[in-house]
Amino acid sequence: MSDESRPSPAGPPSAPVRAPVAAVIPAAGRGVRLGPGAPKALRALNGTPMLIHAVHALAASRHVSLVVVVAPADGPAEVKSLLDAHALSGSAPSGSWGSTDFQVVPGGETRQESVALGLAAVPPEYGVVLVHDAARPLVPVDTVDAVIEAVRDGAPAVVPALPLADTVKEVEPATEPGAPEPVVATPERARLRAVQTPQGFDRATLVRAHETVTEDVTDDASMVEQLGLPVVTVPGHEEAFKVTRPLDLVLAEAVLARRRLNDGY
Ligand code: CTP
Ligand code: MG
Repeated sequence: MSDESRPSPAGPPSAPVRAPVAAVIPAAGRGVRLGPGAPKALRALNGTPMLIHAVHALAASRHVSLVVVVAPADGPAEVKSLLDAHALSGSAPSGSWGSTDFQVVPGGETRQESVALGLAAVPPEYGVVLVHDAARPLVPVDTVDAVIEAVRDGAPAVVPALPLADTVKEVEPATEPGAPEPVVATPERARLRAVQTPQGFDRATLVRAHETVTEDVTDDASMVEQLGLPVVTVPGHEEAFKVTRPLDLVLAEAVLARRRLNDGY
């Protein structure tokens, strides 16, 4: 109980600045765009499953005291034993990684369902909830902490974001793959941001968003936008990129190799 962010179940609700932080890590996707093989979150990067890198990245924040991993529907037992096998300290009891507790729950058909199932496993004393893609295994701890700080400062929803390198076109999507698509508009690039995870939320806001918004979304913050509540950005990081296609695996392994050279990680 040395961590100031640990919950005190018997006490009054924490002030936002002290609110304990839980992280939900959706890891239940197949990884279709990565090609055939194991579920994406279980694919290895330099010998260690992507999910383990992602849990490591979140547990590295001293503020995060609970990690809920949302495993493939048929894989919670496998994921649980992976987490136990990679526990940071040999002396940590099962279900705990260093000073961070973890839980594993089975996921759903869509990312949104998986996040809702993970969120349901977060006890109410956690006033701040992060949602982090297992597919972003290399997010630096400073990015995690910047998101937490902004939520604790009072923002109901916070997303790490980066300016775009490419110009973006809105098109009329073709019905046949590869067919030319008419361009409809070119949004001003300087006003656009690519958003990453972890996205951070006041817990009650995220719960309400999941209860209220039923249509498909690709990130959690957009559900909060639909409630009419403010969402703010903090600076993202290029190493928080999402492993989506085969080339991303090459990049992720190169980043890990550079880290190992630089700081022995
Ligand atoms: N995810 C999930 N449950 C689902 C679908 C996705 O928990 N039913 C998770 C993925 O495991 C991933 C994150 O949501 O960590 C972001 O999704 P994405 O990058 O699209 O991963 P996949 O859905 O696995 O990949 P693809 O879309 O290529 O199949
Ligand atoms: Mg997907």
